[in-house]
Amino acid sequence: MTLAQDDARPKTLDAGELLSQADHEQVVSCHDPGTGLRAIIAVHSTALGSAIGGTRFYPYATYAEALADVLNLSRGMSYKNAVAGIPHGGGKAVIIGDPNADKSPALLHAYGRFVQSLAGRYVTAADVGTNVADLDLIGETTEFAAGRSVERGGCGDSSVLTSYGVFQGMRAAAQFLWGTPSVTGRRVGIAGVGKVGRLLAGHVLGDGGRVVVADVSPEAITQLREQHPEIEVAESTEHLTAMDLDVYAPCALGGALDDRTVEALHAGVVCGAANNQLVSEGPGGTAERLAQRGITYCPDFLVNSGGVIQVSDELHGFDFDRAKAKVSAVFDHTLEVLDSARDQAITPAAAADRIAEARMAAGMPTPWLPNPGSADDR
Ligand SMILES: NC(=O)c1ccc[n+]([C@@H]2O[C@H](COP(=O)([O-])OP(=O)(O)OC[C@H]3O[C@@H](n4cnc5c(N)ncnc54)[C@H](O)[C@@H]3O)[C@@H](O)[C@H]2O)c1
Repeated sequence: MTLAQDDARPKTLDAGELLSQADHEQVVSCHDPGTGLRAIIAVHSTALGSAIGGTRFYPYATYAEALADVLNLSRGMSYKNAVAGIPHGGGKAVIIGDPNADKSPALLHAYGRFVQSLAGRYVTAADVGTNVADLDLIGETTEFAAGRSVERGGCGDSSVLTSYGVFQGMRAAAQFLWGTPSVTGRRVGIAGVGKVGRLLAGHVLGDGGRVVVADVSPEAITQLREQHPEIEVAESTEHLTAMDLDVYAPCALGGALDDRTVEALHAGVVCGAANNQLVSEGPGGTAERLAQRGITYCPDFLVNSGGVIQVSDELHGFDFDRAKAKVSAVFDHTLEVLDSARDQAITPAAAADRIAEARMAAGMPTPWLPNPGSADDR
């Protein structure tokens, strides 16, 4: 699966060309004159069930740029959901605008009505520029909004199970490489100790591992050290990646694994939460460079799937223990991908893609969720 970087969106493509080349089931352009809402909902695949993926609220320079992003991101969700083994296809939506200036309850309600009009083919959640409070508002006009607050019956902060899933992926890589499903005595470098990275540090320490971190935010480091004074702090992410590590966990932004980082890296395993870590894919791409250097790469979209698993559980009335049990399967799924990559002499990224594609090809659609009632504030 080739995903563009979050910060490298194509800017000059024509919308008509993009649509004519897309392999998506459905793309919906939404406009509400009363609130100024302009959004695009992209349903890439419902082969495995209703498409689920977040809504990004972002000030795209052009409509074509927004379209390129939503097509790319929704396709990525199909692979993530398929490889995570959840009964959902892939979808994503973008709202075009500045979330700090253009967001309003009326606009989010209007957006919810468009989501509702798809009758469950697409279930939305939070992404860059949207949060739990926004999902609460969107959920007032559609039943198909997940990632709402606990008070509204939602699952709340998805970083809890995202970090748990990344840790399961790390344990699987340890099993694959060192013959034991544990990071006891191992040195784990975490780049970015925000919501996910800081919880991941706790999991590693709890398992008897050593943690060294880097973050551009001094507050994030201070907060973490208050909780875990024993952690080591690297001067910068660059310093961190040059250290002797057993595991490197990118938990900040996309594009974490560029050529320079891969060449500098002294780690047996890369396993982290950040989306779109590989700067390039395919022959000669980052996944191959990692393999050539003997580094076991756990595909990001597999090991960070705990968030979407947590959010999708909400559709059945959120139950934390049930969701956590589902996220535990990230261990088995990661081992399956690493074993399959070794057996076929391909990279783990390619193996994960093949597994996802086979599941989608064999998948049977699940029935759509029932039609709900809806609120109206116009
Ligand atoms: N939160 C989730 O449930 C979830 C789910 C799936 C994937 N992800 C991905 O995981 C990553 C982390 O998510 P989060 O929710 O913890 O985000 P966050 O914003 O809470 O934390 C990110 C942290 O990275 C730090 N950072 C930014 N640039 C950095 C750099 N160059 N070097 C070091 N640190 C840097 C920030 O200061 C911040 O502390 C993101 O890529 C996100 O897309 C998150």
